[in-house]
Amino acid sequence: MTYVVLARKWRPQTFDEVVGQEHVRQTLTNAISLDRVHHAFLFTGARGVGKTSIARILAKSLNCESGPTIAPCGHCTACKEIAAGTAMDVFEIDGASNRGINEIRELRESVRYRPSRDRYKVYIIDEVHMLTTEAFNALLKTLEEPPEHVVFIFATTEPERVPVTIQSRCQRFDFKRVPLDQVCGHLRTILASESITIDDDALFMIARESEGSVRDALSLLDQVIAFAGTSISAEQVTGILGISDRRALFEILEALVQGDVSRTLELCKGLFDYGIGTKELANQLLDATRDLLVVKSCENSRTLVDLTKSEWARFHGLAQTVEGGRLERMFGLLLDGCSEIARSPFAKMLLELALIRACQVPPVQSVHEILEQLSTLEARLAGGDAGGGSGGDGPGGGGRARGTATTDGPASRNQTQLLSPATTATQPSNTAGSA
Ligand SMILES: Nc1ncnc2c1ncn2[C@@H]1O[C@H](COP(=O)(O)OP(=O)(O)OP(=O)(O)O)[C@@H](O)[C@H]1O
Ligand SMILES: [Mg+2]
Ligand SMILES: [Zn+2]
Repeated sequence: MTYVVLARKWRPQTFDEVVGQEHVRQTLTNAISLDRVHHAFLFTGARGVGKTSIARILAKSLNCESGPTIAPCGHCTACKEIAAGTAMDVFEIDGASNRGINEIRELRESVRYRPSRDRYKVYIIDEVHMLTTEAFNALLKTLEEPPEHVVFIFATTEPERVPVTIQSRCQRFDFKRVPLDQVCGHLRTILASESITIDDDALFMIARESEGSVRDALSLLDQVIAFAGTSISAEQVTGILGISDRRALFEILEALVQGDVSRTLELCKGLFDYGIGTKELANQLLDATRDLLVVKSCENSRTLVDLTKSEWARFHGLAQTVEGGRLERMFGLLLDGCSEIARSPFAKMLLELALIRACQVPPVQSVHEILEQLSTLEARLAGGDAGGGSGGDGPGGGGRARGTATTDGPASRNQTQLLSPATTATQPSNTAGSA
């Protein structure tokens, strides 16, 4: 297989081929259809979500020989040149390296002349936030009285660094991170047409890792294909993306649920040594605990958490071993601790404290369980020694059961904590004594 850069090969060429960004596509296609295209746009949003792609599609829509049209033909000279980045009337300017007043003065000169062949002169300025203040001021004049034949498209990942005066003269579009399921679907289509097979879990992991950036997803895919060839497994992806972090994270979650403080802290230390930042670890642990809680609490949790099928199965298994109420409290403690972390010079200690507290959350008993224990106790007291009565499976405590009910009961694990302090209000000995 010849090596291709997927992100370049699969740049969308029409509005229909763009994944996500429905609001942008709809507004732009409506404007084109109604012949009411604004003269200046500000495209904002994360890296690799389609800003440059849509800018070029818009340029083609305006300048296609059969246009203006919402479906540029793709094979006329204008369309072809724009796609290749060689069109005379479509200028792609890198704001970072053309940020000074002189470059913008030149641009203002050029704006005055009519297009050499096409309908519009389209200026796409990437990283526009990098322009100097003088350059922005010079640009402002042009934006106020733009010639009919000119369209500006500014793109930036940092809109807050673009002066309001510029922003207010543009139609602004905030590009969104592409939802996980849409990235998955897009990758699946591309892989099918590249004749590459992939595990569902592997595909999901790549999509998740890209956090909504289609370009990142495709770059990761390039990397995985270079390593794995035409058949990709989840293990290979795990190896390449270093998702072993996630395994460690799950182990920490297990240790937390088991209340194992020293193992919890040991595992964290391992990750710190590996180079993970305190804030990052805190966030990931919070996310993981939240996922566990959702898996525990919701029937349809599969769609509510970003977990692969096998990860979900592990979370589901772990969720069975912990009471919902306890998990909720653990999550609350972590949430409190982690909220402080961002502002504190003692981030690591705060995280450790939160983890220790979370480990030590005692199991919570349901009222039903407590009532069951009470009736066991009552039965035992009434009948001398009834042995493990209804619901009890611990060894019979005989006469010594009185007052130390905590040694018996449905589950022997952590029984001492089970009845205190939350249950002291309904101290079984009182009820039992009066029976
Ligand atoms: N919404 C999308 N639909 C389909 N493909 C996309 C989308 N967004 C990005 N891509 C893919 O990623 C590549 C880069 O996208 P694009 O240049 O449009 O991103 P960008 O938002 O301009 O990113 P940057 O901020 O880094 O300039 C495209 O060639 C395409 O393969
Ligand atoms: Mg771009
Ligand atoms: Zn065309």
